[in-house]
Amino acid sequence: MPDHSMIADEYSSFATREAAPTSALYAELASGVAGDPDLLALLATLPPAKQQPNLLFAAARRHCGQPASYSEFRAGVLDEWATVSAIMLVRRTQTNEPARCAGIYPVLASLPQPVALLEVGASAGLCLYPERYRYEYNGRVAGDERSPVRLRTTVEGEWRHPGPVQVAWRAGVDLNPLSVTDADDVDWLKGLVWPGEEERLSWLEPAIEIARRDPPSIVAGDLNEHVLEVAAQAPASATLVVFHTAVLGYLSAVDVERFAEQVRTLRGHWISQEVPATLPWIPVQPDEESQPLRYVVALDEQPIARTLPHGGWMRIIAPVG
Ligand SMILES: C[S@@+](CC[C@H](N)C(=O)[O-])C[C@H]1O[C@@H](n2cnc3c(N)ncnc32)[C@H](O)[C@@H]1O
Repeated sequence: MPDHSMIADEYSSFATREAAPTSALYAELASGVAGDPDLLALLATLPPAKQQPNLLFAAARRHCGQPASYSEFRAGVLDEWATVSAIMLVRRTQTNEPARCAGIYPVLASLPQPVALLEVGASAGLCLYPERYRYEYNGRVAGDERSPVRLRTTVEGEWRHPGPVQVAWRAGVDLNPLSVTDADDVDWLKGLVWPGEEERLSWLEPAIEIARRDPPSIVAGDLNEHVLEVAAQAPASATLVVFHTAVLGYLSAVDVERFAEQVRTLRGHWISQEVPATLPWIPVQPDEESQPLRYVVALDEQPIARTLPHGGWMRIIAPVG
């Protein structure tokens, strides 16, 4: 019998480390798939990058609707595998989460203003408008206080409340930029919000509106091929900031090294918000809790804070500013 244990492990880990804290349905679906030889065998027919839980669940919901249980989900996927897998092959997990800006905003505010933002792995570019969102850090407001995008964050640890951020220029790079003006892309972005986390739509939708009024410039292609060329277009009068959130996990270790080497040659700064394993030389203590999954925000390869993948919480490692 073929060994599908790596796919099963990915689904088990997703169930406990990622979905369980906030999405009971996705935790149930992921645990179900992890123990289901039929679905594992179907997933094994796809390229590894297309076997991800998020992609399967979003594609199945798009075609079959939201299931009430694992058995309903399983029946839908087995009956409709041709269409579900076709969606998985065409689409990617491109969750664009404006709440990730809450981890980056204080770091941006600590740099000389204005900043020129270059986001690699930008998806639809919603993290390219950090100064247009309203943040509440432990109840204290930062950013654009009138913004309809309202992001609340509990901060643990000593830190300085961030001042304003001024953005002089913004641009992105993505293998497959999504367009905030394309209805199908917008539907896909909304479908990537997990059941049980519908509150995320309350800031995703206004963030899409903000981006629609001033659509971002995002170059289509690999970040390693384009980062230097796009960075060269940034105005020299602003502080260049290359940043990324939830992107480097899609690259091989060699490609991550190549990216790091390129960014180090640039004038300016580098902000990363990734799981620690993707940038293993950034000096962080092992996480005291293994669940849920946490990111580390780092400035120029020095750790600043831990954050959650969909925002809402931050633990300071070393305050900026
Ligand atoms: C999970 S999404 C995160 C999007 C956004 N950074 C955020 O946090 O909201 C990852 C994005 O990285 C992009 N991506 C993955 N590998 C890439 C590469 N080698 N070059 C450029 N973009 C890449 C994907 O297309 C996708 O849009």
